[in-house]
Amino acid sequence: MDNQAAIKKVRTKLKSAKSIAVLTGAGISADSGVPTFRGAEGLWKQYRAEELASPDAFARDPKLVWEWYSWRRELIATKVPNPAHEALVTMARQFPSFVLITQNVDGLHRKAGSEDIVEMHGNIWKVRCTKCSTMTDNHDLPIAYPPECTACGGMLRPHIVWFGESLDPQVMDQCMQALQSCDVLLVIGTSGVVHPAASFAMMAKGAGAYTVEINLDPTPSSGTMDTVINGKAKDVVPLLVS
Ligand code: APR
Repeated sequence: MDNQAAIKKVRTKLKSAKSIAVLTGAGISADSGVPTFRGAEGLWKQYRAEELASPDAFARDPKLVWEWYSWRRELIATKVPNPAHEALVTMARQFPSFVLITQNVDGLHRKAGSEDIVEMHGNIWKVRCTKCSTMTDNHDLPIAYPPECTACGGMLRPHIVWFGESLDPQVMDQCMQALQSCDVLLVIGTSGVVHPAASFAMMAKGAGAYTVEINLDPTPSSGTMDTVINGKAKDVVPLLVS
């Protein structure tokens, strides 16, 4: 099916839908200039995200991990939402039920005006004390090293879910509820290789949802989607909003 026909089909599905769930990944922010994790630009000093975003990496070399996050914060701070983020803000107002789940930690959905977002992997502008677990917003650029908790002096870490760490059970519940009850699930700009997000489309489909993948390239989940639209999120997502 060509993109025109696919977009027409999804628009028709959306017209009769009451409950929408959206799952976004780094691809929706790529059009804002935020590097994706597994694209060509995804490396930082030849490190992959898997080598830095983990409790072991932080225990081994917290300075290196903070250097990476500080670099990402400084880069993201200069980026603005793109038409894909903005289209989701409009879409949210058009349905009785609309849940936005993002794997992104860049805060661009919030910056675009989306409300009650499920930030399933955390937020790069929040930090958490490794000793007393106090969580605070932090927008320091650069972040002074070692970042210390003002409450107990403990070392701060990014409030981000790292590889090997489990999601907050409440967040998982919110995701499960949305996936079980949505009429349409839009999966936008994710490579579909990191769980549990990688299985969300199958879960929603199993519960009767119409599943749509919007991505530059095919992914391992493409074959299970009801409709796949290949293109840039900033070009495609606005076409789905009436
Ligand atoms: N429009 C749509 N899709 C795009 C665009 C674009 N302009 N640019 C890239 N993409 C797609 C790529 O084809 C790829 O499928 O976005 C996806 C980005 O994949 P990843 O870099 O793997 O990012 P993501 O899927 O969000 O990673 C999931 O892995 O590193 C961890 O916790 C991190 O949340 C992240 C998780």
